[in-house]
Amino acid sequence: MDIKKFIRPELVTMNCYVPIEPAEVLSQRAKLPSSKVIKLDGNENPYGCSPKIYQALAAYRFYHNYPDPEQRELRKALEKYTGLDRQHIICGMGSDELIDLILRLFLEPGDEVINCPPTFGMYPFSTDLCGGRVVDVPRTEDFALDTVGIREALTKRTKVIFVASPNNPTGNTTTEKEIMELVGIGKIVVVDEAYFEFSNVTMANLVPKYTNLIVLRTFSKWAGLAGLRIGYGFFPIGIAGYLMKIKQPYNANTAAQAAVIASLADIEYLRANVARIVMERERLFGKLKEVGWLKPYPSQGNFVLCSLPAGKAEEIWQQLRKKGIFVRYFDTPRLKDCLRISVGRPEYTDALVKALKEVKYD
Ligand SMILES: Cc1ncc(COP(=O)(O)O)c(C=O)c1O
Repeated sequence: MDIKKFIRPELVTMNCYVPIEPAEVLSQRAKLPSSKVIKLDGNENPYGCSPKIYQALAAYRFYHNYPDPEQRELRKALEKYTGLDRQHIICGMGSDELIDLILRLFLEPGDEVINCPPTFGMYPFSTDLCGGRVVDVPRTEDFALDTVGIREALTKRTKVIFVASPNNPTGNTTTEKEIMELVGIGKIVVVDEAYFEFSNVTMANLVPKYTNLIVLRTFSKWAGLAGLRIGYGFFPIGIAGYLMKIKQPYNANTAAQAAVIASLADIEYLRANVARIVMERERLFGKLKEVGWLKPYPSQGNFVLCSLPAGKAEEIWQQLRKKGIFVRYFDTPRLKDCLRISVGRPEYTDALVKALKEVKYD
């Protein structure tokens, strides 16, 4: 029996999202003990999560019960953290789940989603999965949005426009003026602020004023909770009700909820780590510039994109891997001569820069 005949044809041919691998797999690949692996490929937090989380998870007594489908405690805590009324807030299993849910809510088969590459790969992935059509409007030479190009790409079938700010992997933010211009078009505008805490640039306060602006956030990066999968978004009231209706009722698990509450109770600790990462980002940027043959782009996230001599990025990425240093390589036309390096601890920067100085290429 040919099982493919049963599978939605567009999923048979759909492009895969290329995910990163966990540290234990990388250590096997590099044949190095995990203590020797320098993982700078996932924009993860090199300082981990708040230590208070270990106590909170050990003390929690209700793992046998389903979590609150209305996420009441969590949304209350997020209201306090963000200053936005809890009726605008919904949590998801990472912001990845919220991207998927937004598209499930708005897309009918063949509806269009504006994607501005180079950018986060889950927007096209989830669009494809939801039966939508990705319309790419590439960023300009300096990675700014091409707002004229976006306007030109609009059709009756355009439903959603995604903008990551700071953008992954380029690190730049989008201005309020540009976002307002997009909101004025009258489609759904999703501003993905996964790296907000490293940039302090946000559009969140605008959400209650518009019916079509969504802002997404996550605990994966600044709070070191990537493994627990918890993110949230600010939604206009008119959208929030429908998202609550269509989300899986128990999507935010109890461990993640307890971890968020404990993180927000230990906010000074987490903010100090964010400040260390921001400082290290600037040091990393300077050191990368000193290497001579790399061009790092200024970043407001916890990563730095670098462009390399033409045709050399993949080979240099492999050489770094052999030394146990894992950075991100994207095999796409616009990024094939680039590497994205997550900001790690200062000693990781030093090891990376030493390795880069030893790199061999003709
Ligand atoms: C721009 C952007 N949005 C969302 C995510 C996913 O975040 P989460 O871990 O909350 O699903 C990432 C992760 O790399 C990202 O770079």
